[in-house]
Amino acid sequence: MEENPVLIFDSGIGGLTVLREARVLMPERNFVYVADDAGFPYGSWNEPELKSRILALFEDLLARFKPVVVVIACNTAFTLAGAALRQTFPEMTFVGTVPAIKPAAERTRSGLVSVLATPGTVKRAYTRDLIESFASQCHVRLVGSQNLAAMAERYVRGDAIADEDVRREISECFLEKDGRKTDIVVLACTHYPFMANTFRRLAPWPVDWLDPAEAIARQARRLVPTVNHLKSGDMPDIAYFTSGETDFATRRLIQGFGLQV
Ligand code: DGL
Repeated sequence: MEENPVLIFDSGIGGLTVLREARVLMPERNFVYVADDAGFPYGSWNEPELKSRILALFEDLLARFKPVVVVIACNTAFTLAGAALRQTFPEMTFVGTVPAIKPAAERTRSGLVSVLATPGTVKRAYTRDLIESFASQCHVRLVGSQNLAAMAERYVRGDAIADEDVRREISECFLEKDGRKTDIVVLACTHYPFMANTFRRLAPWPVDWLDPAEAIARQARRLVPTVNHLKSGDMPDIAYFTSGETDFATRRLIQGFGLQV
């Protein structure tokens, strides 16, 4: 029996960190992975242009793939266009990704939390509102990295990334104040968990690197209707790249995630 797929969306490979978790929770479902690689990186776009792009793209994606639920596995996209997507396509259920500021504020002991994100997410009113609503008792440092998402793209395709380059991007996350130290860094870009082991190795002291992928997948699980049969082997999960061009390293990576381009 064929069900409508769950569509997972990101600007690049970041949403694969969410796909990984979603597959475990919804093994009976087919997935379509969409990377808007033609628009990557989202982090450096102007807000109005990026919002229009995402809305126009979904006009096509919803008609093309007829998903049961859409997971916007991208902080940069959802903090900007989440509300507009829900308003424009009221029939569709959108699961969002926002910086995990609330769980970080609940968990921190030192009260010093950093949010490592794209420059776009750092600028968003949505992010400021999250801090005001859930973390006003904490000192939250927003760190917008120009280069990390692109580094993660290269890293997962097997390129070597110099330690110094990574250290430069993450160093601002570490703050010491009145004898206290940052103890949580929120990975507020879905690309970053791919590099979490490198971050751990290069961190000046141990911190909790908060990856929201599992929580996003759980939320999707709650919203996707359960079916009482296993997935048939006939329908492959697919990946769709908006550029229409995928090089060998990308196809290899995508195949490693059990997807067909
Ligand atoms: N993966 C995206 C996020 O979660 C952003 C990457 C980009 O700059 O396009 O924010």
